[in-house]
Amino acid sequence: MDYRITSYDDYRKKYDESVNNPEGFWADVASSFFWRKKWDSVLEWDFIKPEVKWFVNGKLNITENCLDRHLEGNGDKPAIIWEPNSKDEANRVISYRELHRDVCKFAAVLRSNGVKKGDRVCIYMGMVPELAIAMLACARIGAIHSIIFGGFSARSISDRLIDAGAAYMITCDGAFRGGKTIPLKDTVDDALANSPGVEKVIVFQRTHNPVSMIKGRDVWWHEEMTKVDEAELLPAEEMDAEDPLFILYTSGSTGKPKGVVHTTGGYMVYATYSFVNVFQVKQDDVHFCTADIGWITGHSYIVYGVLCAGCTSVMFEGIPTYPDAGRFWEIADRYKVNVFYTAPTAIRSLMAYGSQPIEGKNLDSLRVLGTVGEPINEEAWHWYDEHVGKKRCPIVDTWWQTETGGIMISNLAGITPAKPGFATLPLPGIQPVLMDEQGNVLEGNEVSGNLCIRFPWPSIIRTTYGDHERCRLNYFAAYEGMYFTGDGCYRDKDGMYRITGRVDDVLNVSGHRIGTAEVENAINMHTGVLESAVVGVPHDLKGQGIYAYVIMDVMPDDDAHTAADILQTVTRIIGPIARPDKVQFVKGLPKTRSGKIMRRILRKIAEGETRQLGDTSTLLDPDIVTLIAAGKK
Ligand code: PRX
Repeated sequence: MDYRITSYDDYRKKYDESVNNPEGFWADVASSFFWRKKWDSVLEWDFIKPEVKWFVNGKLNITENCLDRHLEGNGDKPAIIWEPNSKDEANRVISYRELHRDVCKFAAVLRSNGVKKGDRVCIYMGMVPELAIAMLACARIGAIHSIIFGGFSARSISDRLIDAGAAYMITCDGAFRGGKTIPLKDTVDDALANSPGVEKVIVFQRTHNPVSMIKGRDVWWHEEMTKVDEAELLPAEEMDAEDPLFILYTSGSTGKPKGVVHTTGGYMVYATYSFVNVFQVKQDDVHFCTADIGWITGHSYIVYGVLCAGCTSVMFEGIPTYPDAGRFWEIADRYKVNVFYTAPTAIRSLMAYGSQPIEGKNLDSLRVLGTVGEPINEEAWHWYDEHVGKKRCPIVDTWWQTETGGIMISNLAGITPAKPGFATLPLPGIQPVLMDEQGNVLEGNEVSGNLCIRFPWPSIIRTTYGDHERCRLNYFAAYEGMYFTGDGCYRDKDGMYRITGRVDDVLNVSGHRIGTAEVENAINMHTGVLESAVVGVPHDLKGQGIYAYVIMDVMPDDDAHTAADILQTVTRIIGPIARPDKVQFVKGLPKTRSGKIMRRILRKIAEGETRQLGDTSTLLDPDIVTLIAAGKK
């Protein structure tokens, strides 16, 4: 790992080099990976089309980098330590050698079930090691995985299956989460009723709850694995650097989630490079990222980046408060975790239990703490620093996105300075710019604007699956020649970046990205709803809560009852993460003469402001604002 940044001066030097000679810089980084054939050129790019290619004509398989390359020196080292939901169940420690064997075996299972290079495979599982095995097995044979977070509904699954044109699914009978057993296979069955394109479903048995297995379509994971002849394991497929590795759906400002496509070479290089540098990991580190693998954080920093770097990844099936709020700290002590990476929302929810669950825990193996997913408030930052890090662990506040594949702006643990509330400085290779609404670059410090990136990095989104124009419009059209992040940002007097939140109609609820239009579409499917408007409101635990204004054809007699029904509809259509926190029934919505909903006003009312609502003179019907603010239907 000779691309490791070792000091602040080294950071400055590498940063300059990455700007002045990006191709040389990235060729150096990429050289420490295993390539079957080296690239012909490092980078070809055009942000107008957009088209970006890294390590052109390079050939590799990411799993050879994650697994095979560690076998000789580190085959017995734990690759994954799995902590089950229940403390009464035994954990699993899976060495690199065992993981390699299981991935090769399951890759053979996929092949024998008809999966070929380039096929899309949707994965809907709980946090079990087989989830990592499934994704790596797809990568082994060149199939494109698309993981769907286990909290999504049948409807969300079928939307994604259809969009990805997936003929294969991998799931579990169920998942344990806290005190609950979640019937994943039943949900998949519902989803498949609306997506007949799926030919094969491989089911891993985790919870042993009864499931229906459809003859010819559904097969058991454990039965298929026994059919594989270990002596005849197939070698990894040779992939082009630009062959897609995975699709991951994420919300945007329109109603339909988009399939972000990442490719093999660039993603591998950047996920690993950012992992090593931000967390300043050492070869034998134990890394505990509390995210779900269904989100990009889990892809990059539970699986690909961690395994490529040859570290040990702790994977936790359960939730932070089950059976008690000391669970994370117990895991940290038990496995001697060195790097702990979580979301501000988790910190806030644990803070609410006070310091008691953390007392008596050692936590002396911890060296670096990280946060991701949303701005971290100072109170949570200081609690994390004091109670978890004992004021001796640097906290890295890592800003990035599904589309960026890896961490973009963050302090580097112990190398560059931290500042509470600030993601601080870009990694070498990342060139952020702030733009005003008119499309001018805001130079200098102490400025706020829309955050763009003006030069490609290896794991930049390549396309949105099946709709390249959508990718162009979403990310490359707002500011010509730039990648637009959708985030607002402030650069302080020292050139440090503070992310201020989304500037589009995307909410960030407990670190989960949810489009307002998506929630509105779901609400509008409820019988009797004529129209709705959704806005975010500050929420103590979740960061942002969801506030919905709803117009019904007939005003309900019992608001609470109808609101509960609407919440159920949203849960059914999207999943529980999108449930509004509050539903207010209204007679109309504040709209401009051209029909645009004035969300600015709705946000203020949701925050409890009833007087200073700003200029309402451009509204079609200004009186409606008074009614809404007064809570009148
Ligand atoms: O608004 C930013 C916020 O999360 C968005 C990306 O969400 P997603 O694609 O789901 O990926 C989350 C995990 C990488 C961003 O546009 N965000 C992410 N990290 C931070 C953040 N906001 C503030 N500070 C962060 N560290």
